[in-house]
Amino acid sequence: MTKPKRKLLLINGPNLNLLGRREPEIYGTLTLDDIVAGAISAARKNNAELTHFQSNSESAIIERIHQTLDDGTNFLIINPGAFTHTSIAMRDALLGVSMPFIEVHLSNVLAREEFRKRSYLSDIAIAVISGAGAKGYELAVLTAIDQLGPQ
Ligand code: DQA
Repeated sequence: MTKPKRKLLLINGPNLNLLGRREPEIYGTLTLDDIVAGAISAARKNNAELTHFQSNSESAIIERIHQTLDDGTNFLIINPGAFTHTSIAMRDALLGVSMPFIEVHLSNVLAREEFRKRSYLSDIAIAVISGAGAKGYELAVLTAIDQLGPQ
């Protein structure tokens, strides 16, 4: 019998659909599609499956987090964008589904404006990867797989 695959869900929040054109000096020149392709490939190499969801809407992201209760997701990787610094509702959603997650930021949020230094998610995350650029997503995939343990 084949064992079930490890299922990772990657969520990208607001304005990350603009990657490649959005403040490239901060966020780099890769598009979101490029970054997602890298994350999918890192997952596949490790016999895991990664699906992706991006939305600019806080409610849509919260609904997607809720769906992880029933869709077989084992681990969440999330770049919540600016909702990181504002959304108690997103924190409550993550606590509500008890899903282990890694918080990812392309930029080093601690080296930027004061308001970016507060995260409503970091203290409940398994790990926070901030400032590693697009590679941070691949690092998150490898860390998630490590956390899930052998199949
Ligand atoms: C970001 C950092 C956030 O402060 C910002 O609002 C973003 C992107 C990052 O990936 O560096 O939208 O999450």
